[in-house]
Amino acid sequence: MAMTITKLHDHVGAEIGGVDLSRPLDEATFAAIEEAFYQSSVLVVRRQDLPPERQIAFSQRFGPLEVHILDQYQLAGHPEILLLSNKTDADGKPLGLVEAGRYWHTDVSFTEVPSMGSFLYAVEIPPAGGDTLFASQFAAYDALPQDWKERLAGLKALHGLNKTTAPKFTDAQLASVKGVEHPLIRTHPKTGRKALYAGTFALRVLDVSEAESDEILAFLRDHWAQDDIVYRHRWQANDLVMWDNRSVLHCATLFDARFIRHMHRTTVAGEKPV
Ligand SMILES: [Fe+2]
Repeated sequence: MAMTITKLHDHVGAEIGGVDLSRPLDEATFAAIEEAFYQSSVLVVRRQDLPPERQIAFSQRFGPLEVHILDQYQLAGHPEILLLSNKTDADGKPLGLVEAGRYWHTDVSFTEVPSMGSFLYAVEIPPAGGDTLFASQFAAYDALPQDWKERLAGLKALHGLNKTTAPKFTDAQLASVKGVEHPLIRTHPKTGRKALYAGTFALRVLDVSEAESDEILAFLRDHWAQDDIVYRHRWQANDLVMWDNRSVLHCATLFDARFIRHMHRTTVAGEKPV
């Protein structure tokens, strides 16, 4: 069975067909998948029967995995797998993290070394809703007017948490979260392409006035997820979707909480954005 790579969108996303990720891949096949991942930013592989150890083994070929600090949400026996789930145990306690992230973001950009890749395997999904949206930040950068490219070059933003992203934090808790600085334009280490790097965790543009920071962030919010650069993933059970946090923003959407959404996530470590 020959592997196929089919674009899902002009700017972001490709579907890989003809592979069985439950079995080890040869070097050439993996290299083709890896290249497609960096070029397309999001890869979809449907109809996979992916036990946890195989998801871990496949994810690890992209780099070392991160273990989430919320150890109560790790899959028993497989700390590399974080459960995203609205299932509860017999006492009504959640088994996993109930997916937040219903705003445009790149994963944990409020840390010094944000995750490179997030790999999400759908075990159980609701009959409708719960789509994930992906916006190409290569395309967002390319579409910037030249004067904005020049204006943003060299600028950094402070990434942190606020009431939108951490609604349960008190003002004092939010104030205690030390933000980190990242460039607003980063260069992808594998492709050399420039990508816009902002999202909802970007709270303040540095070394400009507060008014100018507000103006820049308002412009970027209108720009970073325009319809023509967004791929909407409609989940099916047994999908593996993986995305490159260095070149996409993503956004979760609502689903009817009477239904179960249960997913296994692995996370590949990244590097400091430059
Ligand atoms: Fe996320």
